[in-house]
Amino acid sequence: MKKPSPSRRDFLKTSGAAAAASALPLGVAQGAWSAGSDQLKIGLVGCGGRGSGALIQALNADPGTVLWALGDAFEDQCDTLASRLTGEESPVDASRIQLPAERRFSGFDCHERVTEAVDVVLFASPPCFRPMQIDYAVRAGKHVFAEKPAATDAYGIRRVLAAAQLAKQNNTAFAHGFCWRAHQPWRETMAQIHGGRIGKIRSSYVTYLAGPLWHRGSNPEWSRMEYQLRNWLYFTPLSGDHLVEQAIHSVDKMMWAMQDELPLHVTATGGRQVRTEEKFGNIYDHFSAIYEWADGATGVVQCRQIGGCLGENKDTFVGSTGVLKADGWGPDMRALGDFPWKWEGKNNDMYQTEHDELFASIRAGKPIQQGVQMANSTLAGIMARMSAYTGERVTWDMALNSEERLLPADKDWAWGPGLDCEIAMPGKTKFV
Ligand SMILES: NC(=O)c1ccc[n+]([C@@H]2O[C@H](COP(=O)([O-])OP(=O)(O)OC[C@H]3O[C@@H](n4cnc5c(N)ncnc54)[C@H](O)[C@@H]3O)[C@@H](O)[C@H]2O)c1
Repeated sequence: MKKPSPSRRDFLKTSGAAAAASALPLGVAQGAWSAGSDQLKIGLVGCGGRGSGALIQALNADPGTVLWALGDAFEDQCDTLASRLTGEESPVDASRIQLPAERRFSGFDCHERVTEAVDVVLFASPPCFRPMQIDYAVRAGKHVFAEKPAATDAYGIRRVLAAAQLAKQNNTAFAHGFCWRAHQPWRETMAQIHGGRIGKIRSSYVTYLAGPLWHRGSNPEWSRMEYQLRNWLYFTPLSGDHLVEQAIHSVDKMMWAMQDELPLHVTATGGRQVRTEEKFGNIYDHFSAIYEWADGATGVVQCRQIGGCLGENKDTFVGSTGVLKADGWGPDMRALGDFPWKWEGKNNDMYQTEHDELFASIRAGKPIQQGVQMANSTLAGIMARMSAYTGERVTWDMALNSEERLLPADKDWAWGPGLDCEIAMPGKTKFV
């Protein structure tokens, strides 16, 4: 039977707990939405492509949500989205946008101002900022939706894991943007895999073979830091490299199929064969990684960002009694072998479902907790990058405890010379 949502009276009865929680760092629970109030103030940090989409989905998910604050490192990005949302062509009803100029923030600390103003904060800035921003929001007792990936280095992953623990303790939501986990055909397919349709998984083979992505050019008025941040995809400290930024969806599906069991180790190769110009920073253009689990199962991830080649984003799972082949974009998922099966259900908009479920969970007083899953899938990607960059086999423990720290301390982000981004050379680049 469905448990009824807590009433305002129930909330008042338990407000002693909220008062106790407010003794936690940065006033946990003070700003979080409480049952009994209909309005949920939303803030968006990172006003680019995905952020704009996530915002609309959050507004669609729940009639009580109101856009209350916007933040972006760049004022022009923040202003452009604000004008779109408040202009005559706005895709959103004017009553849902309450965005006076004083609640539009820019700069490296914009997430602090946005977080302080709202109940739920959506993070869709480049991946490097996720640990700092999540950490701040969770300590402030706010509900969080964070786009993937969780971080670009192990230091960041450890911060996100700590934040996931605190969010759970505080009963505030921590939802992630690994959107395929909200894709109905995939959910049904994973249920088949986990239910034994192909027996025990012995190996996975997942691909993210894509073409090149955008480049936003240069401008003599930009500092090096501004240039790097406008073109964040191409700098490992900022994006994590394309294995961690884009193909991480495939890594995540491999982890999901393995029921999120942590792999023992990974051996990966990669390089920079076509995308060699200086404007492409230091990232690689292809990777191939082989993971191994304690029961001997293996997982292969292949990814590429090179034009003029086969494009493929598909997944194959080989089990002890059959094989499951999946193309999430079709969607076309089918099992071959002793117990054949073909997915024939109803497709959904996974991005919308993510937000529907997040807001329903907040309203029900049982906020989603996906922080650990997010950190683990991201670390699985980071460990493969570490292996490809260094030429070493990297174990889970090595990766988790790595001293690699690619980013400035929170308060040291500044416009100016930019970050050092060397091109990694396997055999020469050392694991740290
Ligand atoms: N789940 C998905 O399918 C999916 C799809 C696309 C992107 N993403 C993820 O969403 C995130 C954003 O990607 P995008 O394609 O929207 O990129 P984008 O470059 O279009 O947008 C990023 C925005 O963040 C801003 N920004 C930079 N530094 C910031 C800071 N310190 N604080 C606040 N804002 C800052 C940028 O100015 C820009 O407006 C990435 O993590 C990406 O991996 C996920």
